[in-house]
Amino acid sequence: MIDYVSDKISLNNRDNHDEKRQGEAYAPFQNDTNQYAKKFFIESYGCAMNFADSEIVASILHKEGFGATKNENEADLIFINTCSIREKAEQTVRKRLTEFKKLKNKKKGLLVGVLGCMAERLKAKLLEEEKLVDIVVGPDAYRSLPTLVEEAGNGQKSVNVLLSREETYADISPVRMDSNGVTAFVSIMRGCNNMCSFCVVPFTRGRERSRPAASIVKECTDLFNEGYREVTLLGQNVDSYHFINEAENETITFAKLLEKVALISPLLRVRFSTSHPKDITDEVLYTIAKYDNVCNYIHLPVQSGSTRILQLMNRTYTREWYKAKVNRIKEIIPDCGISADIITGFCTEDEEDHQQTLSMMQFAQYDYSYMFYYSERPGTLAQKRYEDDVPLEIKKRRLQEVVSVQNELSLQSNQKDIGKTFNILIEGDSKKSDTDWMGRSSQGKVFVFPKGEQPFKKGDYVLVKALDCTQGTMLGEITK
Ligand code: 5AD
Ligand code: SF4
Repeated sequence: MIDYVSDKISLNNRDNHDEKRQGEAYAPFQNDTNQYAKKFFIESYGCAMNFADSEIVASILHKEGFGATKNENEADLIFINTCSIREKAEQTVRKRLTEFKKLKNKKKGLLVGVLGCMAERLKAKLLEEEKLVDIVVGPDAYRSLPTLVEEAGNGQKSVNVLLSREETYADISPVRMDSNGVTAFVSIMRGCNNMCSFCVVPFTRGRERSRPAASIVKECTDLFNEGYREVTLLGQNVDSYHFINEAENETITFAKLLEKVALISPLLRVRFSTSHPKDITDEVLYTIAKYDNVCNYIHLPVQSGSTRILQLMNRTYTREWYKAKVNRIKEIIPDCGISADIITGFCTEDEEDHQQTLSMMQFAQYDYSYMFYYSERPGTLAQKRYEDDVPLEIKKRRLQEVVSVQNELSLQSNQKDIGKTFNILIEGDSKKSDTDWMGRSSQGKVFVFPKGEQPFKKGDYVLVKALDCTQGTMLGEITK
């Protein structure tokens, strides 16, 4: 599962889009409305996949003659790309919808559409619950947007929440939104077949399917030629990527795909998210080790450190098995950064289970974690089978303990790097000062360092020596 941002607790801005996601949503790219008669505004919540999907939606709308605007007040069409992963994510969307309602009352003809996981989960019910909404579109139905917008323009409420077994939007070139021009997300597969018992995603995003490898390689090559220097290959479970190229009788696994993208250029960094511990293979680990431009960083959600809870979660691995995987990663890629997703307070979790999660964190020495307390989701296996019996205050207290341990681990990990030199890809000015650059190491750590006299620019690689750190950021200087 790829990382979610709308209500996560994050300890640093390791995530590619964190800067623009801090307000929980981001307005789109450059105002390009001059060329277009009508304007759309799109706001995205949740995971990186949703942000990538919004770029597909933008591409479809451009073809229909809609230009993007960053200003919701001047839009003719407002879309909100939603997340259902936890209850809080849905509440955030509902709050935002009430703000759009005010706009709608002011502007006749303004259309409001709900996209993504909440649209899929609630379907036409959303139209009853949120009277201002005109259009409801699930994640596999974006190609029907032109028809739906037209219908809605004629006063008809329109809904398409059909899930597909094939749709990958492979032939649609995403319009890069609010891009830094250096890093980009590339979707390689959609859906999830895993059925973790707490998770709503298999219901909202449907069955797993892989995008043709050639179209992924082409998109990454085009990005490189446009000046991008880092791609993050996205999927709910990238390690189960599987594509058969019938013309050449070739089976492309995730490891092979990673290699194909790595070979585009040594100057193009490759990241990926997310791995399921049960599926990440040695072949993937050896590919990471073999290519310098495949980043030494793996997001390996653990969810819980207790075998009993992992079983109830239907994660299909035990505590020991996960530990062996961490050892294998460190053996094959000694300097690999590792991060995790962790849930506290899942059904029946007791103090002993919780202690096992804390000790797992110490064992794995995560550089970074996304941490949540359990939020029961309607329709999931856990909701049907188990009682959500851990009181909220205990869920929150355990979450706080998990966060404290992670804070310590992140700081320790950063302190260990002081004095070492890293190859940093410059992403832009630092948030605090335009006399400093911000970039990342292969392990995904954020580095901030003075620009100095040398004429570097965004997208350049530069050797930086780490001099100091906070819990979230490495501070350094360009080495001679
Ligand atoms: N409650 C809390 N956290 C959840 N996640 C997924 N479903 C839930 C839920 N019902 C977390 C998992 C997943 C991450 C993206 O979100 O940790 O890996
Ligand atoms: Fe990730 Fe499991 Fe949800 Fe699939 S079911 S998206 S693997 S948490």
